[in-house]
Amino acid sequence: MKNCVVVGAQWGDEGKAKITDLLAQNADLIIRYQGGCNAGHTVVANGKTFKFHLIPSGILYNNKICFIGNGTVILPEYFQEEIDGLKRENIDLSGLKVSPLASVTMPWHTEIDGYSECTAGKGKIGTTKKGIGPTYTDKMQRIGLKIGDLYSETALSEKLDIILPIKNKQLKEIYNLRTYTKEEVLDLCKKYAEIFRPYVCFDWQEMLRNAKKEQKKILFEGAQGVMLDVDFGTYPFVTSSNPVGGGAAVGSGYGPKEIDEVIGVAKAYVTRVGEGPFVTELDDEIGDLIRNIGHEFGVTTGRARRCGWFDAVTMRYACLVGGLTSIALTKIDVFDNFDEIKICKAYKDIRNNQIYHDYPTDVFIHKYLEPVYETMEGWCENITRVRKYEDLPRNCRRYLERLEELLETPISIVSVGPDRDQTIFKN
Ligand code: GDP
Ligand code: IMO
Ligand code: MG
Repeated sequence: MKNCVVVGAQWGDEGKAKITDLLAQNADLIIRYQGGCNAGHTVVANGKTFKFHLIPSGILYNNKICFIGNGTVILPEYFQEEIDGLKRENIDLSGLKVSPLASVTMPWHTEIDGYSECTAGKGKIGTTKKGIGPTYTDKMQRIGLKIGDLYSETALSEKLDIILPIKNKQLKEIYNLRTYTKEEVLDLCKKYAEIFRPYVCFDWQEMLRNAKKEQKKILFEGAQGVMLDVDFGTYPFVTSSNPVGGGAAVGSGYGPKEIDEVIGVAKAYVTRVGEGPFVTELDDEIGDLIRNIGHEFGVTTGRARRCGWFDAVTMRYACLVGGLTSIALTKIDVFDNFDEIKICKAYKDIRNNQIYHDYPTDVFIHKYLEPVYETMEGWCENITRVRKYEDLPRNCRRYLERLEELLETPISIVSVGPDRDQTIFKN
């Protein structure tokens, strides 16, 4: 196996965790490089379902290191809950490590996230209310706390003397939310230090250096997806980190030269949770059908996911900016009973009939865009037991080959069901 990044290529929930879990079999070190517990990752292993938010999906194997990298933001109580859940399942957590450079989500971050969402009116993003945006905001404003800060009382005290006056002023004057005393925050930080103590990895430099020297296989696990990337997604309707392939270098401690491959995970259709433009959205019975067959409800918030046909315009863009070297196409089995399947290959601007083949990054105009579809014949048979590419029905292979043509990127993995073994490795 080469060192590989798994990236969501749409708006999240593409089945990244299934692909990460699968590739993790052959990896030594799995690094989650961005996001926080906004992520909801499902792995079905031997008929059993596991849900992860922060913990890398490789944790189900023994003898692997699962590292939560510097690019992530961690809500301590949620992390604890996830750990407790895995312990109840007797999952071995001895390989779990957390970077001291990862950011801590403090209670004010979730409070600000909740407040902002409730008062934003038209500007509502539909966040997961897990404090993601406010935590990254403070990181960039250089008034955030990192996991490592929790272990040095004097440094923490000095930092809080700088951070708290700014934060309390914001909380009171901008948000009309409660303020925090230093004692209260020190107490909280003591509690957080205990939560992370078994996992915080102060010798992460040695760990990464040794892995590199010993040519260990590294798998970088992304959360969310390219279209939710803060730089390249449908801004401002995005998350606050960089899920793109390049984010793996920034959020892990390895340079770009350690990355050999970037696998973009995409569903055979598109879903989105929360607000924001979605040109191929199906607000009709076909959308409902996809949602019901594909069980498209959020892992983290339980919200119904918006569903639509495959959008080759955004996906071609995702191949470019996400740095994808190949695609893992998931949930193609959801179309097993469809007579016909549509692919959006261009957008038309209803104001002037202008055709877009390239993704227009000015999200403001998306409300004027309608999809230009091409229709493919369905295969109308059950493919969930197929394990070889050649055994897929002819129309199914045609569909996959048409996608490769439109995206100018090869499909390397086809997923025909949620379980580990419901996977076809092409070539
Ligand atoms: P992630 O956030 O990208 O890891 O994806 P989620 O876990 O949020 O959502 C993907 C859902 O699809 C999960 O319930 C998976 O078990 C399921 N899934 C993954 N691959 C397939 C597939 O090929 N077919 C079907 N039917 N379900 C799949
Ligand atoms: P995984 O890793 C789908 C969406 C939210 C919202 C926007 C911003 O499971 O694919 P945030 O809480 O991050 O500030 O919310 O991003 N969002 C996701 N949508 N899957 C996810 O993660 C998501 N994480 C965030 O719905 O629209
Ligand atoms: Mg998800």
